[in-house]
Amino acid sequence: MKNVLVIGSTGQIGSELTMKLRSIYSGNIVAGYIAGAEPKGELKESGPSEIVDITNRQQIAEAVSKYGIDTIYNLAALLSAVAESKPQLAWRIGMDGLFNVLEVAREMNCAVFTPSSIGVFGNNSPKDKTPQDTIRNPKTMYGVTKVSGELLSDYYFNRFGVDTRSVRFPGLISYVTPPGGGTTDYAVDIYYSAVRGEVFKCPIAAGTFMDMMYMSDGLRAAIEIMEADTSGFLHRNSFNIAAMSFDPEIIASNIRKYIPGFTMKYEVDPLRQAIADSWPNSLDDTCARREWGWKPEYDLDSMTRDMIEQLKEKGI
Ligand code: SER
Repeated sequence: MKNVLVIGSTGQIGSELTMKLRSIYSGNIVAGYIAGAEPKGELKESGPSEIVDITNRQQIAEAVSKYGIDTIYNLAALLSAVAESKPQLAWRIGMDGLFNVLEVAREMNCAVFTPSSIGVFGNNSPKDKTPQDTIRNPKTMYGVTKVSGELLSDYYFNRFGVDTRSVRFPGLISYVTPPGGGTTDYAVDIYYSAVRGEVFKCPIAAGTFMDMMYMSDGLRAAIEIMEADTSGFLHRNSFNIAAMSFDPEIIASNIRKYIPGFTMKYEVDPLRQAIADSWPNSLDDTCARREWGWKPEYDLDSMTRDMIEQLKEKGI
């Protein structure tokens, strides 16, 4: 049995991860949410939910105590482009929020998963097959909070023994809950346009490569790392993980295999383009593979087939 609190359970990752955790574990899988982002439908019906604002330490502590929580999935965050427009809020959620989670975890003995990102890397990190341990000097607030979060999480492990674990997610692609305000979101939006038969206006320039991953692999990574035997760990916060890397031309031509009439034109967004240019083309995930057995299942083609099929089924 496992009692889990998911903070940010109605967001892009949380809405799917909460359901997946409920299908695996028999304990309380609590959907934590903020006012205005209440769980709906299956997410609401299939288990307990509580208002848990990550900036309110008391609320986190009360939920942990009420449900005997042993593991916290801390998924509250602003994605990269939104974080640039609200840097103060991004810090409050990403850092003050994480500090609250870690303090509750220290006092009440919980394990903590906090996603990190390809956004921890910056312009002078190696671009191709970016190594696990290399320079991390992002210029975005998103990246600043992710690097600081990695350091703080390792500090809580080393200083207080809090079982903190993390992966650096690439752009996550899913047909369930749309992302909002990320730099990699184009790779989700493109499928919606293609299935609707619309021309896709791509905000990222041709030739811009970024790492991406199908959501089912991302969810598996988040669960497998928390289940992993830590005796093999040389790292904790955070592991590079990877599945595929492409630019807009490559994903568009893959979609054309299944929707031949699909057309795309470029309307590059300078903010997102600058962020994308500062990120790696691809990550080296050897350490995750070696230390806890990470392996992706989906490549671009199998993801495209599934995305198109699922979106058609949804009747979008
Ligand atoms: N998907 C995220 C973003 O674009 C990257 O981790 O902000």
